[in-house]
Amino acid sequence: MPHQPIGVFDSGLGGLTVLQSLRARLPDEDFIYFADTRHLPYGDKPETFIQTRGQRIAAALAKCGCKAIVVACNTATAAAAENIRAQLALPVIALEPAIKPAAALTRNGILGVLATTRTLTSRRFAQLVKSHAPNAKVITQACPGLAEAIEAEGPESVAVETLLDTCVRPLADARADVVVLGCTHYPWVRAGIAQRLSPTTTLVDTGEAVARQVERRLTQESRLGGHGRLRFATSGDPLQVGATLARLCAISMPVESWTV
Ligand code: DGL
Repeated sequence: MPHQPIGVFDSGLGGLTVLQSLRARLPDEDFIYFADTRHLPYGDKPETFIQTRGQRIAAALAKCGCKAIVVACNTATAAAAENIRAQLALPVIALEPAIKPAAALTRNGILGVLATTRTLTSRRFAQLVKSHAPNAKVITQACPGLAEAIEAEGPESVAVETLLDTCVRPLADARADVVVLGCTHYPWVRAGIAQRLSPTTTLVDTGEAVARQVERRLTQESRLGGHGRLRFATSGDPLQVGATLARLCAISMPVESWTV
């Protein structure tokens, strides 16, 4: 059945930056977005915990009739993408920090990567760097607290500004000419990150690449089609998530409460 929704999930509302790219490329598709806000942040949690969350959420989305699952979270991809693929007979499209395009773009061979601690310490990330940027100098910077501050306080809050001062400084000092936004929350603070780097630095994220990949997979399987409908659900407080959704995306919609 082509007219089934595409399930998208993240630890919170970072994956909405991916949903925006998905909707821009595939405006006729229906989407269910699940924010695991009760367990935000994933970035500082044990790998096994994130694996279990990813598998449960993917199963819940599949049960709702989703025809594909998009893991709109770098941290969940690193910990759980393989397990989710093994568990479901559906296309599972996951994302990871854009090291490959960054390595192609750099002129001075210095790459900066902003991501969660869990992503940066994962085996998958080490493999990504080894495969795609073996000759680059890769400066990694974890940003504990940033995803939560973006959601709770807002992208232009004092808390976010203070965290950005600390997290972006090492990349500016190292003169990285390409900076990878390796967490789906960080495009919400793209301007604040850019402002702290040289104006010639290029910032890369993966939203559009993921949207192209979803389009490719569903075209191959002749499963594109929908009515452009959206549904939101959370494991956290639906009212609070609804308010954040309105603030970040100007979308005013009821948010469902799911026990997953
Ligand atoms: N947005 C998520 C990512 O892409 C994780 C943020 C978090 O929960 O720590 O990595």
